[in-house]
Amino acid sequence: MMPTQNQFTKSNDATCSPPVPESVMTSTREEFNNIQLKKIWGELPNDLQGHVFIAAPNGSVNSHLPYANGDSIVNGDGTIYRLDFDRPGEVRLSSKLVKPPCYYADDATKPGTQYAKYQFNNHGMGRFSTSLGLRNQLNTAFLPMRFAPDESDRLLICWDGGRPYEVDPVSLEVATPMGSNQEWRPEAKTPLKFIFNPVMSSAHPYFDPWAKDEKGRDRPVAFTVNYGKSLATILKSIPCPLTPGKLLRPIDSIFGWFAEFLEADRSQKGFWIGFCQWLWQLLLCPISWLAKIFAKMDDFVYLISWDGKNDLERWNIVQENGSPVKIAQTMHQIGVTEKYVLLMDTAFQFGLGQIINNPLPQSPGLERFLRALLTTPQLPDTVLYIIRRADLKCDPNPAKREPQVKVKARKVVIPREAIHFLEDYENPDDRIVLHIGHVCAWEGAEWVRNYDRFANTSEPIPDRVHGMISEEMDISYVGRYILDGETGEILQQDAIRDFTCTWGIAFYTYRPDPQTGMMPAKLDNIYWTSLGLWKETLTNFLFHLTKDYPYRTVSPSDLLLYGDEGVPPCLFRVSTGEAEIAISDRYQFPEGYMVNSIQFVPCKAPDSSSTKGYIVCTVFLPTSHEIWIFDAENLAQGPVCKLNHPCLEFGFTTHATWLPKIATRTASYNVDVRQDYESLVKAKKNPQIEQMFENEVYPHFS
Ligand SMILES: [Fe+2]
Repeated sequence: MMPTQNQFTKSNDATCSPPVPESVMTSTREEFNNIQLKKIWGELPNDLQGHVFIAAPNGSVNSHLPYANGDSIVNGDGTIYRLDFDRPGEVRLSSKLVKPPCYYADDATKPGTQYAKYQFNNHGMGRFSTSLGLRNQLNTAFLPMRFAPDESDRLLICWDGGRPYEVDPVSLEVATPMGSNQEWRPEAKTPLKFIFNPVMSSAHPYFDPWAKDEKGRDRPVAFTVNYGKSLATILKSIPCPLTPGKLLRPIDSIFGWFAEFLEADRSQKGFWIGFCQWLWQLLLCPISWLAKIFAKMDDFVYLISWDGKNDLERWNIVQENGSPVKIAQTMHQIGVTEKYVLLMDTAFQFGLGQIINNPLPQSPGLERFLRALLTTPQLPDTVLYIIRRADLKCDPNPAKREPQVKVKARKVVIPREAIHFLEDYENPDDRIVLHIGHVCAWEGAEWVRNYDRFANTSEPIPDRVHGMISEEMDISYVGRYILDGETGEILQQDAIRDFTCTWGIAFYTYRPDPQTGMMPAKLDNIYWTSLGLWKETLTNFLFHLTKDYPYRTVSPSDLLLYGDEGVPPCLFRVSTGEAEIAISDRYQFPEGYMVNSIQFVPCKAPDSSSTKGYIVCTVFLPTSHEIWIFDAENLAQGPVCKLNHPCLEFGFTTHATWLPKIATRTASYNVDVRQDYESLVKAKKNPQIEQMFENEVYPHFS
């Protein structure tokens, strides 16, 4: 039931929203090897098994978290944490920074080194060098893969802004990228000749263990995407100009004053903001054409499949009228079913636009002014593209040239936006069953800037939360949809929200196959976490930016009242029944706590129930980090065990996965680092950079 203004009278007088836990903003970059976690509460279940892998962005070569200047905490080198449940009565933890070649280039060029003039800097959620290109930070999610029954599990770590990399599940060392540089099309080929070209992919590729080849033989494959945007598409979503240099402080202060004026009551200045945005788009037309011609920046989407041993296969995905698919935001997650591949334009802005968006890190007044004047909200709808797998004919020589096989996709629009979705594998009567977490009015790529102010009081937000991810500006929904795969028609839809559970839906898990760790064919119970609602991250800027959100459930004024009160995070289970979905079980965390990175661990007993097992998650207490374990059949009773370690500081962890067993990687597939980068390095025609690669990058991969 919707709350009323009167329900908040008390909290409006005396604000009681707890502070964001500082632990979610802090991390150590120290790597651990097989340390034993300490049980601090409850009993460790004796039927836990296997290994949980957790990803996290973890600062840069210059800094652990938090960043002193308030940069986003999700901009960071990936770190992999592995929890081992393979010894009775104990849990051990190992961790390792993910170190692809660009990591070593970043380390070699940090301030104070002989190559410092090529250094990388944080730009939004990316890290960029004007000489070398974009870091592949590999900090978001995993993909377990088993290509043959007698092969041990293989593991990809993935990020939106680069190629996935395979890691050794035992050593956690980087093994190889998925595909060579030649097989991935950059978002832009600029005259700057980047060595680390910006490559857009999906943080959640899909592994299909049931896939067949054209003759009906088993041929498990991984699917992902490689896409790019024209400059016009990029600047429609994050429209700020790239300007070198630094403004004089008085001039920057004037821009800051204008920014404050625009942010104060954005809706009343709608005409002038709209006019400026239109003018800006008009000015960009010739620039976009030049970018298309000289930087080869264009809208494209390639679907990629990989069998774990050969070159990538690629298809050029186009709309039904043959025109390119234009991805306005990102393709954070893709889905695959028996008959269809599902691509989504997800509500998360990332890419070259973020580099452009933060042109003058040392001129915050200008940055704030441009953000206030030109930023537009994310798309309020979910745009889905359905591809028939029967249309995916083999492309004979994908590594050598652009994919020639064009495959049409059917566009479907579902109300309310999303970042994450899951799907049942089977397609009875060509039907597609989708499970979607709708993140309503949540600007996922925004973060609390050091000049942001509270939405309710307009007072400055304290330093301690600068860099934290943004807050949702409306309550989230979970939905279940049945689509006709051939027509795209939405045959059935059911979307629900809950005023305890669904404030800021974040991470998900489900019971993986206990034998293989793979996703099950049908999902009848899905576990989700929510971020909750925190007054400290309800910014004035985002509050006004999203005021006119078309699917609003909680009015802006009620949102502020909820924020004053605060809503704790939640772990909850959604039963995805045939007729309707329902929240069947829930646990609301104590005030001042946060939860991330949930992972279902099937218990040892042979049981096919999708609730039989445990939920392992990372929990952020006001000043410390813990691992909590829940009985997946009874979340409401609270955790059955809590673990920690005095050295453990894992920052804002992201997605997790589970493998029943781990073994040292034996697969022969390997993209040689020198061969992969040599031509790109030589094309720079810079002896110092060549020397840097010879001395600081290649030796780590020889
Ligand atoms: Fe994700």
